[in-house]
Amino acid sequence: MAIRDSRIPGFYNLPLASRRQELADRGPATLQELALFDAGGLDRATADRMVENAIGVYSLPLGMGLNFQVNGRDYAVPMAVEEPSVIAAASNAARMVRAGGGFHGEADEPVMTAQVELLDVPNVERAEARILAEKAAILDLANLIIPRMVERGGGAREIQVRVPSRDYGGEAGRVVVHVHIDCRDAMGANLLNTVAEGLANRLAQLSGGRAGLRILTNLSDRRLIRLRASVPAALLATETVTGPVAAEAIAGASRFADDDPYRAATHNKGIMNGVDAVVIATGNDWRGVEAGAHAFAATSGRYRPLSRWWVGSDGALKGELIMPMAVGTVGGTLGVHAGARLAQRMLGVEASSTLALVIGAVGMASNLAALRALATEGIQRGHMACHRRATSEIPVLPEPPETPSGTSSANRPPRTPPAGTPTSAEGLT
Ligand code: MEV
Repeated sequence: MAIRDSRIPGFYNLPLASRRQELADRGPATLQELALFDAGGLDRATADRMVENAIGVYSLPLGMGLNFQVNGRDYAVPMAVEEPSVIAAASNAARMVRAGGGFHGEADEPVMTAQVELLDVPNVERAEARILAEKAAILDLANLIIPRMVERGGGAREIQVRVPSRDYGGEAGRVVVHVHIDCRDAMGANLLNTVAEGLANRLAQLSGGRAGLRILTNLSDRRLIRLRASVPAALLATETVTGPVAAEAIAGASRFADDDPYRAATHNKGIMNGVDAVVIATGNDWRGVEAGAHAFAATSGRYRPLSRWWVGSDGALKGELIMPMAVGTVGGTLGVHAGARLAQRMLGVEASSTLALVIGAVGMASNLAALRALATEGIQRGHMACHRRATSEIPVLPEPPETPSGTSSANRPPRTPPAGTPTSAEGLT
């Protein structure tokens, strides 16, 4: 069940059990349900069925990203991530965006693309013409392969014929057929691969060549999300920097990412800190989302930032994020992973497009928090406060035995926290 108000002041300072109680009181899940996360939301027997050679279950911390408002609706967002400060920073930035009206955005129709590679095509122009002339029949054939998706309102929408050697150079005689398929609320990978394999013979026949690879592309550039945010400059002030100066500095940091692929990579990593945490918590394929994000970032021919920030004519900081977001709310891991299912239920999203927008908002919040810190006081102060909090509360692990090469524990720094370790970090709610 969705939360009505994702603003929960003081949540950070509560003990873990009381945070669960807060969530139970506010509706997203009962205490009994939340106990599922004691063991990572996945039991050993299920893990054994999910992968090969299983020896156990590997856990990550699960926290709640708070203060999110997307298209006027509140979301408390489950985030699975090992890095301290990511959840705090995203929640803090979401609070600032909330004060500016929240995140707003749109998602494309959930269309993914399957690729069928055709090789040794004797005449690529003729193959292209023949395949396009058969377009309607090919789409019908594709839809016969996925009747249940068609029943749910999805299905094959369009055929496109590409000749990579024409666009990028490379091997002659290769034609690539793209089949664009509306996957509704599924991520769609299995569905797309089934269609690609089911169409391959017919397409090879039409082309006069032979079928090569048949698989989806993770550059899902027909399944984009577009999000916007606005933050009143005063809210961006830090101890040492005024709000308007911080807003200008964040805009400058954004231009740096636009101008330099080396910076763009790190800028986008800051976005993916938030994105991946939600993608993982909700049982989605984060490798696919990562691959899509970075390929999309490079489509102009140069690797670029997925988001941009600038100062608007009203003096507020404005931001925009555009990126692919291939995630589902049904099927895949969700069929087996109880924790992922519960995380999705707590979020209260049903449509994959809504989940995609919430994930984008968390990415954008993570990005804003990082840029604000970097462009004002530097990242280390808040980051290290969270790191110190983390290490101060973790029992010191037993030292590994001495290695034959003689590396002894005496040479390693102690893991005890420094004196004066803060118990809270900047930006927590
Ligand atoms: C660290 O996990 C993420 C940042 O490097 C992102 C950025 O530089 O924008 C702080």
